[in-house]
Amino acid sequence: MSASNIAITIGRVVPCESEASQPCCSNNGFMADLREREQIVWNTLCNLPCERTVEPCPGTMLAAANALDWLTAVPDDTLHGIVTDPPYGLIEYEAKDHDKLRAGRGGLWRIPPSFDGAERLPLPRFTVLTDRDRGRLENFFVHFAQAALRALAPGAHVILASNPLLSTVTFGCLEAAGFEKRGEIIRLVQTLRGGDRPKNAEDEFRDVTVMPRSCWEPWGLFRKPIREKTVAANLRRWGTGGLRRVSPSEPFRDVITSSPTPACERDIAPHPSLKPQRFMRQVVRAILPLGVGVVYDPFFGGGATLAAAARLGYMAIGTEINANYVDMAAAAITRLRDLPGENRQVVGA
Ligand SMILES: C[S@@+](CC[C@H](N)C(=O)[O-])C[C@H]1O[C@@H](n2cnc3c(N)ncnc32)[C@H](O)[C@@H]1O
Repeated sequence: MSASNIAITIGRVVPCESEASQPCCSNNGFMADLREREQIVWNTLCNLPCERTVEPCPGTMLAAANALDWLTAVPDDTLHGIVTDPPYGLIEYEAKDHDKLRAGRGGLWRIPPSFDGAERLPLPRFTVLTDRDRGRLENFFVHFAQAALRALAPGAHVILASNPLLSTVTFGCLEAAGFEKRGEIIRLVQTLRGGDRPKNAEDEFRDVTVMPRSCWEPWGLFRKPIREKTVAANLRRWGTGGLRRVSPSEPFRDVITSSPTPACERDIAPHPSLKPQRFMRQVVRAILPLGVGVVYDPFFGGGATLAAAARLGYMAIGTEINANYVDMAAAAITRLRDLPGENRQVVGA
């Protein structure tokens, strides 16, 4: 981005044409207070203890840290929204299963068959989780949800990726911690998970599918309860409580048609779970109802959420436990941000 299309607004740097710089409400007398608060929050978050930080572009901060540790240092009522794709199975990013992923066989990672001549990326296979793994998963999500609830501003939303096999477990943990469930965003995407015949007996059972081929991905939508009497009052006081509309005549919708992550994005950030910019820009845009505040991704991986936020001119901070992925995201974020494409939902798409 050239210096000529950068604007400074009360100490914050935003791209001139960004979504953050566009007016979001008819009477914005309180917006100056919210911008001031945004800057204070940003300064606080950037100075929290962690192994190291990288700022790939103004208003985007990567912290090399365990999300659970980092969250405990965040003051109460601080973050304006969370958009994240967590480690669903926890163990898939542990050294043992990561080594199996690299070796191309065994463990939790399934190598899908090549299809139409195209090699597919490995997918985590969640049906192999044991009861103990599920218990650990619940434990992790309960801790995460409790820490996130405290650190989020009243009325702030969480958008949390999951999959049809584990969403009841992970979503239940957020509700148990005190979040309100506000729905689910359905990403319509061909994941190539499931749809196979019984292993080693494919010819014998030609008409049997062990599990359906999954064509969707649930993203849980949660809100920390508002603290003011009405959503309007909460929006004025905290800048949170609702979701950003697509336009004055179009609400945000909860079904989004999406392609798998394109090869050009995977070349920029070769993380095994990279989410596509087209989809991420739509959900990240919605998380700040007034376009003001700081978005957090606790498990940023290749940096898809943070790149989408940078594209929108939103301030965003993330944590990632794996040092290699911190380096990967640091190099990828401005390149993903600058890819062409829509920022918001296209009705009928
Ligand atoms: C599903 S991936 C996120 C992928 C990301 N959405 C993207 O598009 O690249 C989950 C990430 O969480 C990281 N992770 C696992 N446990 C963590 C923890 N306790 N704190 C921070 N990051 C963690 C993993 O290293 C992995 O990169």
